[in-house]
Amino acid sequence: MAKAPLQLILLACSPAGCQTLACNLITTSTKESLSTFSFLLEGIRNLRTTGTLTRSSPALCKAAIDRIDFDKARTIVELGAGDGVITEYILKRLHPEGKVIAFEVSPELCDDMRALGDDRLVVAQDSAENIRHWLDQIGADKADHIISAIPFAALPVELGKSIVKASRDNLRPGGCYNQVHYSLKTKNYYEQAFDSVETHRVWANLPPAWVLYCK
Ligand SMILES: C[S@@+](CC[C@H](N)C(=O)[O-])C[C@H]1O[C@@H](n2cnc3c(N)ncnc32)[C@H](O)[C@@H]1O
Repeated sequence: MAKAPLQLILLACSPAGCQTLACNLITTSTKESLSTFSFLLEGIRNLRTTGTLTRSSPALCKAAIDRIDFDKARTIVELGAGDGVITEYILKRLHPEGKVIAFEVSPELCDDMRALGDDRLVVAQDSAENIRHWLDQIGADKADHIISAIPFAALPVELGKSIVKASRDNLRPGGCYNQVHYSLKTKNYYEQAFDSVETHRVWANLPPAWVLYCK
């Protein structure tokens, strides 16, 4: 059983935690409900790296992939992909010859992504600052777009800034960097790296979230 501090277990059982689970269970299939529980367990085990106890809602997943030109994109990079909840939305719209490199540090969540069984998906069981290495693996010069749900507020500042810098350096000119967050605490990371940062609130998620669109 996971080594979880008592307060995390209480949080998972709190009215907000139960409401989130109940909403997900009512509105999703059995497979998705199992993923919700699997993600919750990973959150209890490693809240510092997952940054949340719940996976993104459909509204948040759609906002996370907004502004991506799926007609032209062939290489999409996803950072902090979790069990692949946003990845599935990307794959639904990705060109048949496209590739998604999905970074995730949790081995259990990487297994969930591999189970999606899509040849276009490259699961990078690695930390996101190694983006250059994984682009080289698929013979890509740059990423056309990058989508991140990494909880930078919970990571050391140096690591967070190095991931954002590596993202900017490996993003094709004109590509988007879309960041999902629950607070705007690290907005300055993106302001320092990109020319423009636009914030968009997504209320239909527990907790309500932000997507920052950076160019
Ligand atoms: C907030 S969860 C998002 C999961 C999923 N994309 C979603 O939207 O529900 C953040 C994920 O980032 C992963 N993560 C944390 N640090 C990371 C790093 N340095 N490199 C890659 N993934 C990381 C965590 O393990 C966790 O699964």
